[in-house]
Amino acid sequence: MIQVENEMDASVLEEILEQVHHHTGIQMTERKKNLLQGRLRSRLSALKLETYRAYLDLLKWNAAEVQEFVNLVTTNETQFFRTPRIWSYFTDQFLPEWTAAHPKQTLKIWSAAASTGEEAYSISMICAEWKVSHPDFNYKIVGTDISSDVLETGKIGFYQGKSAIDLKNKDSKRLEAYFSAVENGYQVKPEIKAPVSFSLLNLYRIPSHFSGFDIVFLRNVLIYFSAADQEKVLANVRRAMKPNASLILGESESLSRLKTQFKYHMPLIYKL
Ligand SMILES: C[S@@+](CC[C@H](N)C(=O)[O-])C[C@H]1O[C@@H](n2cnc3c(N)ncnc32)[C@H](O)[C@@H]1O
Repeated sequence: MIQVENEMDASVLEEILEQVHHHTGIQMTERKKNLLQGRLRSRLSALKLETYRAYLDLLKWNAAEVQEFVNLVTTNETQFFRTPRIWSYFTDQFLPEWTAAHPKQTLKIWSAAASTGEEAYSISMICAEWKVSHPDFNYKIVGTDISSDVLETGKIGFYQGKSAIDLKNKDSKRLEAYFSAVENGYQVKPEIKAPVSFSLLNLYRIPSHFSGFDIVFLRNVLIYFSAADQEKVLANVRRAMKPNASLILGESESLSRLKTQFKYHMPLIYKL
């Protein structure tokens, strides 16, 4: 049996922090040593590697391992209908205004750090309800993330445990309406799933064809980046947005100290 070393030394930790930044843009400090050790240890074990140095060496030449590394070092906490005030904005202001200004067009929505898909499906449920009273309304939702693991959950659309219990407590009517109860969990119904697609995307490298979004949910991801990197990501995201598009941030995020082209609209909401 392979015994993984207990602790990584300071120079290895520094290089791992550099690798985290290089591959994800996430800025971690030495204080994350225990978290990183905890997350990487089982991977070392699975690869039969005894030292964190050996793992670093592997990362340098094994591109497939880089994706595993990214999956392990990202934090993917999310919920359905997280932060009530942004959902009120989307339902009561954004959708009525957008629909009035863009008859018969297709609303393009981007969940830009989609994690396991709860945000993208929350959007889809609200759009489905809006379509009932506005049959000409059409929409597409794209969920992207840098972690391939979480995207798999989103693509399947099966939720159990904390995520499903949270939705049941918050909004049991929508859980019943839009999910089928299956063994040990809930499967999102086809009408909610169909408008949503998921793909792997690093916010630092957004391809130029990825564009034309009317509204972007960029939530609870900027907090992981330095101020300079947040500005880079925001400039990339802006290029993917239409003029006058809306940007929605996470509950503890703000653009007030950053140099960007976004204009403040209301707390957590910005406009181009
Ligand atoms: C805390 S979750 C937020 C999920 C959801 N937006 C929400 O607010 O509930 C942050 C997500 O950002 C993703 N992420 C981190 N760095 C990224 C990057 N450079 N490009 C794209 N996604 C990234 C992580 O993989 C993670 O799933």
